[in-house]
Amino acid sequence: MEQTVYINGSLLPRAQAHADIYDHGLLYGDGAFEGIRVYDGLIFRLQEHIDRLFRSAKALAIDLGMTPAEMVDAVVRTVRANEHRTGYIRVTVSRGVGLGLDPSHLPPGATVIISTEQLSLYPRSMYENGLEVVTASTRVPPSCCIDPQIKSLGRYINNIQAKMEANRVGAGEALMLNMEGYVAEATGDNLFLVMNGELTTPPTSQGALTGITRATVIECAREAGIPVREAAVTLYDCYICDEAFLTGTAAEVIAMVRLDGRDLGSGKPGRITQQLTEAFHARTRTDGIRALD
Ligand SMILES: Cc1ncc(COP(=O)(O)O)c(C=O)c1O
Repeated sequence: MEQTVYINGSLLPRAQAHADIYDHGLLYGDGAFEGIRVYDGLIFRLQEHIDRLFRSAKALAIDLGMTPAEMVDAVVRTVRANEHRTGYIRVTVSRGVGLGLDPSHLPPGATVIISTEQLSLYPRSMYENGLEVVTASTRVPPSCCIDPQIKSLGRYINNIQAKMEANRVGAGEALMLNMEGYVAEATGDNLFLVMNGELTTPPTSQGALTGITRATVIECAREAGIPVREAAVTLYDCYICDEAFLTGTAAEVIAMVRLDGRDLGSGKPGRITQQLTEAFHARTRTDGIRALD
């Protein structure tokens, strides 16, 4: 079945869905995006993703020309058109079309693209055995330059460089530090440490995205009576923790079992990691907006 893509109000076959060569997202990274998952017809936390997208657009002063409810509807229609029961959804928006930095020279009209994909980030064995991670030399930009809460297109050049650092040494992911040397997050995931039965995750003020998987895991932990705190995390904290895991829409929840050549905890996915992985997957069966019965 040919893929159907939503582009600026129309659902078109992929071969006919073209973005302009002068799109500001392409030319300058001047836009934002969301990666979303659909599980058996249920679009996981779609409202939360659309709300974050609209916050990103607002912070960038991009008028999307549609309401959040219309965006939700557009995502649902795209999923239905593709009979996309289980997989990944990418929503990409940009300021619109025009050469030159000055937004006042752009004709009105943001670009909005919604596409569906199959995505499996890691093989099953990595979910069972955990991920080896390295610390990247590429840092996250300071919040005063690019706010990590804006899921902007342009911010990801650093994350791609960091991911390439991981690839070069055969690691599955890279941790990224902020300019003060605290751990911010991984290239496409948030970080959690388990120490003495308590969870710690870096706050947004340290350069972490306000991840939707992260929020879900925090809810699951609190429901299970596991204390959670947002606090600055050092590499030392990572090296001596009992368990560690990463969370993200694409990766879901995955144990981090080695970092910079050291085993973390037992070097295997820990008990609390496994408990929260199961609790997260239970949420994917209930939390969201149904697109397909
Ligand atoms: C840099 C970064 N951090 C964290 C995450 C995890 O966020 P979420 O759980 O909302 O997918 C992502 C993915 O969106 C990301 O790109």
